[in-house]
Amino acid sequence: MNENYVVTVDALADFCTKLFQAYGANYEKAKDFSESLVKTELRGIKSHGVVRIKNYIDRMKAGTITLNSSSKIIKETPTTALIDGNNGLGMVISKEAVRLARRKAEESGVGIVSVRNSNHFGAAGIWGEELAGNNMIGICATNSEPIVSAPVGKTRALGSNPFSIAVPANKYPTVNLDISNGVMALGKIYEYRRLGKEFPEGSWLDKEGTPTTNPHANEVAEFIMRPFGMHKGFGITVMMEILTAILADGAFGPEIPSVYRDIDKPNPISHFFMAIKIECFRDLHDFTSKVDTLIEYLHSLPVQEEGKRVLYPGEIEAKVSEQNDKNGIILSEEVVKELLDMANLGGMEISDSPFEVAPNNIVINSQI
Ligand SMILES: NC(=O)c1ccc[n+]([C@@H]2O[C@H](COP(=O)([O-])OP(=O)(O)OC[C@H]3O[C@@H](n4cnc5c(N)ncnc54)[C@H](O)[C@@H]3O)[C@@H](O)[C@H]2O)c1
Repeated sequence: MNENYVVTVDALADFCTKLFQAYGANYEKAKDFSESLVKTELRGIKSHGVVRIKNYIDRMKAGTITLNSSSKIIKETPTTALIDGNNGLGMVISKEAVRLARRKAEESGVGIVSVRNSNHFGAAGIWGEELAGNNMIGICATNSEPIVSAPVGKTRALGSNPFSIAVPANKYPTVNLDISNGVMALGKIYEYRRLGKEFPEGSWLDKEGTPTTNPHANEVAEFIMRPFGMHKGFGITVMMEILTAILADGAFGPEIPSVYRDIDKPNPISHFFMAIKIECFRDLHDFTSKVDTLIEYLHSLPVQEEGKRVLYPGEIEAKVSEQNDKNGIILSEEVVKELLDMANLGGMEISDSPFEVAPNNIVINSQI
């Protein structure tokens, strides 16, 4: 059996910052980039954490992510801004856009920032939560290359276009719905492979458009995702495409090459960020206390199976975050090897590896 490794949050952040610097990112960008990946790992969203670094670095090396480029505000009003990301790092651009949306919302009650020509921004939920902070409602979305089929379709129609709606509570961690509109994220295929499990019926089509439950039916990047809830998930994906690419005058659906297969082509995606200042509507403490009441109501609901409990969106990730913060982040041997290989190839100096073999009873939190 493969070993798992454990790494502290600070050590992983430091490793990732130095890794991006080794590939040419300046310190500020490397730090913002690394922080967002580590936050994603903390929340247990393994499919969008450090496992993605290789793709980002392959793109930096191919010149299809322009390192250290600066995004530019194209159009601005007191409550809105349109940013051209200039093909920079998606997570760095998103961080800037979130700061701008929050500043506008602090000043004018609402801040909406639309972004084009960005790159993959990872887990929507980390941006939703940053937009929300402890006093706002945060909403964000991204488009992506086509991967989701239409309900009756057998080809890829549009991206899975994940979005997050995040709302602060008072006593409880932030309510944060962070979902894509496919039955499951592409990155989870690696989890099915790792755990030797079959996909649930109806979740994927193979590259020919035939339903399959076999995670090895073809290359990971070739699967075609079904929309969740058929016309409902598909409808949301269409609307997220409009809120992101069409609003930002960015590339939409078929105009976006594959993030994994077309390393030599830019992946110009668009994002949408919105912050709404709660105090413009009601007293902040009253609002967050009422969110607590809603959470407590959900927790009190009768359940079908003894020992289960109704959870609210974001609750699982908040709990996992607390555990990971305390015990360290667990990474598979495969991921650690890939990180160390990239560090070596980039000429990064590592005096002591920050990754320690995890005790046998520690397992990786699975997203499936
Ligand atoms: N950037 C991209 O292109 C891209 C594409 C797809 C997915 N993603 C990211 O991948 C991650 C996973 O996406 P997904 O669509 O597989 O999400 P998912 O199906 O894992 O759902 C996650 C959401 O559901 C909530 N949830 C889970 N179990 C729950 C329960 N029992 N009760 C109540 N709420 C529950 C979670 O708190 C969270 O808000 C997300 O972070 C998403 O943003 C990114």
